Amino acid sequence: MTSNANQYTWAGRFSEPVSDLVKRYTASVDFDQRMWRQDIRGSLAHAKMLAKQGIISGQDLADIEHGMAQVAQEIASGQFEWSIDLEDVHLNVEKRLTALVGDAGKRLHTGRSRNDQVATDIRLYLRDSIDDIQALLKQFRMALVDLAEKEAATPMPGFTHLQVAQPVTFGHHMLAYFEMFGRDAERFADARKRTNRLPLGSAALAGTTYPIDREFVAAELGFEGVCENSLDAVSDRDFAIEFTSACALLMMHISRLSEELVMWMSPRVGFIQIADRFCTGSSIMPQKKNPDVPELARGKTGRVYGQLMSLLTLMKSQPLAYNKDNQEDKEPLFDAVDTVTDTLRIFADMAGGITVRAENMKVALTQGFATATDLADYLVKKGLPFRDAHEAVGHAVKAAEAKGVDLPQLTLDEIRAFCPQVDTDVFSVLTVEGSLASRNHIGGTSPEQVRAAVARARSCL
Ligand code: ARG
Repeated sequence: MTSNANQYTWAGRFSEPVSDLVKRYTASVDFDQRMWRQDIRGSLAHAKMLAKQGIISGQDLADIEHGMAQVAQEIASGQFEWSIDLEDVHLNVEKRLTALVGDAGKRLHTGRSRNDQVATDIRLYLRDSIDDIQALLKQFRMALVDLAEKEAATPMPGFTHLQVAQPVTFGHHMLAYFEMFGRDAERFADARKRTNRLPLGSAALAGTTYPIDREFVAAELGFEGVCENSLDAVSDRDFAIEFTSACALLMMHISRLSEELVMWMSPRVGFIQIADRFCTGSSIMPQKKNPDVPELARGKTGRVYGQLMSLLTLMKSQPLAYNKDNQEDKEPLFDAVDTVTDTLRIFADMAGGITVRAENMKVALTQGFATATDLADYLVKKGLPFRDAHEAVGHAVKAAEAKGVDLPQLTLDEIRAFCPQVDTDVFSVLTVEGSLASRNHIGGTSPEQVRAAVARARSCL
């Protein structure tokens, strides 16, 4: 194809063609062609409305529907020839339609602009993406619940400051992530509501002179309503920013989990194994099995934060209404969609490929006086004020440390030296199992509560 000003549908008032560089600089077809399904869906709804309102004929509508079916088939089968001369997905599809059906194709754009068209396409695309992400989030959260149920009574050290703090169960730990990803799902559902409004009918910026029926188009496309102001509808991309911000938060949670998986898989910690299919080896060190998937997910989190910053910066300072700046919304948005979708798909699978090494977690639990708080609580129940109990146990910990043992290995007399109130029943309190079982309230780590939380989780999924 040669470059000729007249090839552009808008070229009427131009006297020279754009340079190849400008053409490449301003075209978006390389990346917006992925919205072809949404573009065709939107066009068909628009055409149906035009015919219903008597703006185009029934024959025109039939030609458009027939032609679009062929365009869709050509694109889906990879035969469609995308042309950079036609700038974007919208003009590529429209031009091919017109080549196939003639004048009816030229009438499709009546009462419409690419400005409301592209805003509609993005919203449809994003709505579809949110639905995919929600389905994947559900699968992933289900996998976390399965793991939590399996390990509902498996003790591991709970950490604060990365120092052994108190015993928790591995199931409880997994359910913490279940909660985080549940809030992420709520955020996506919320962003969907504001995404799901119809811009079409706004035309370039001010609305249109034709007797259109926007509510009809909205219903055809499954939108919850129409955008109420044409200037706002064609220009703002806050819904995309909101979505990407939900993606950024989700990736932040993924990154926290990834960090733990990497740490837990280190031979120095040895809390878990991750199935081989999520790990890779080293080109030089034959013994290596590296947790590449969680590491990459941690890395990709920065990438999604970057897309959020791109979109926020893209939108700021844009005067009303549409500006070409907005064409730059797509790549960051698509990248966020792809990154989150791939990450969730792989994590849903990987969660099922985690094996817990309970024996190592148990050993780690004996190396940090994990039941010291239980001893203090025991003393409080024997009548000591908590601050005094805290101090007495501090002395006992010091003695155990000097002796090189954990608290339960001290003799009754050794403990009594600091805490005269203790009796033989203290030893059941000092065990990991006793410590876990005693945190038996909603939100607590006892196996009983973890199982109850698992049941609640399953019913809410
Ligand atoms: N490719 C453009 C975009 O992504 C479509 C809208 C173009 N509108 C215009 N007036 N140039 O935003």
